[in-house]
Amino acid sequence: MTVRTRRTWLTRALALAAGSALLLVGCSSPSGSGDDEVEPVDVTSATAPALVDPASLGWESADASALAAYPALAELAGDCGVEVVAAARQVLGVRCSSDAGASVLYSDTTSDQVWSAADLVVEDGRTRLADSLVAAGAAASADAPGLLDDLRFDAAGNLLVVMGDGTTWQVPATEAGELLSDGGRVVRGAVRAGGDFTGSSAQAPAGAPVVAAASLQLPPPAAKPRGTGGGGGDVDCSVLKCLAITFDDGPGPYTEKLLDILAARDAKATFFMLGSLVGGRPDTVKRMVDEGHEVANHSWNHPDLRTLDAAGVASQMSRTQDAIEAASGVRPDLMRPPYGATNDTVLSVLRDQGLAVINWDVDTEDWKNRNVAETTSRALSGAHQGAIILFHDIHPSTVDAAPGIIDALQSQGYTLVTVGNLLGETTPGTKYFSAK
Ligand code: NI
Repeated sequence: MTVRTRRTWLTRALALAAGSALLLVGCSSPSGSGDDEVEPVDVTSATAPALVDPASLGWESADASALAAYPALAELAGDCGVEVVAAARQVLGVRCSSDAGASVLYSDTTSDQVWSAADLVVEDGRTRLADSLVAAGAAASADAPGLLDDLRFDAAGNLLVVMGDGTTWQVPATEAGELLSDGGRVVRGAVRAGGDFTGSSAQAPAGAPVVAAASLQLPPPAAKPRGTGGGGGDVDCSVLKCLAITFDDGPGPYTEKLLDILAARDAKATFFMLGSLVGGRPDTVKRMVDEGHEVANHSWNHPDLRTLDAAGVASQMSRTQDAIEAASGVRPDLMRPPYGATNDTVLSVLRDQGLAVINWDVDTEDWKNRNVAETTSRALSGAHQGAIILFHDIHPSTVDAAPGIIDALQSQGYTLVTVGNLLGETTPGTKYFSAK
């Protein structure tokens, strides 16, 4: 029998997460900037949600062999007894018990990404959570071993800390959001959205009941002609070597400078803007349209749309549509969800509002590196015909990098076009990452 310590699990989960290519972190939150002060979190006593019956997942046994269809999870778990703490949409959460103790692991089974419980919370959040548990009398010390080894969510989005003796403490959903890592948001989003587990059902053991969502399949909406979102043009990307550079989270203080840079090079871009910022710089937004760029929707104030209900998503979109239209005269038909994150509810609202979902396939990580050389290197090494490259024009380093990047791309024969030009017709509610 293999015995692994919890520390080993955690370390390996972190290593796996760090090596993952899943890009859910493309956008810096305007409200998420660092504040080193540790504030307490509101923790109250609660009841742990019911475990998921393994038979409902087609599992015949409750040990690690049941994880065979989920290799990354099985690799981390080693030999252990398995209880299912969450199985919703693509997310599977299991509590593994062995002689070494118990620990909860989660997987996004679509991407095969795995997180330990502690990985669901950002580093600062772990400190705040641990301190608050001590203050509440739930733990003797903030570095008690295994203190955050069993974190779960309930359907309301509350964060639950299950202690070794089974007692449970709750952080309300409204406060939990700021503690969560990208992985935490993925897991909470799935649990909160609910719905049947859909992960890797194709790999379920033969004869096992297939757990598939019996959801209503709506016919796809009709494709929408391009041209209403600005950035029109007669560039033929079936002939030219096109790619699209895109800028998120503005408009900001450096956007005008960027427009100058683009104009000097006759390069077109697409701006995914926050509605809450548009009203402060209407002339900049109008200038984008006047100069042939595409204006697009990046929500009102950058929430993870998966945490909102349909009405909330609709409001985030329509308020921003109205703001961009008021400033520029153009109502966008493209949007980019904050963090690139969507779920079925979000996609349904976007389909209703006529918005196609534009993610990216080249991430410069400019919001993280804030470095001209690194942003440039990532943009140029990722560039290819049909690419959609992600930048954020709220960072001066990005705007400083723009002239060199554009010059290099143009010297390599690329034509820089809007996303609308690159993709041609788009279908509302459908996700695009590139022009294939
Ligand atoms: Ni963003």
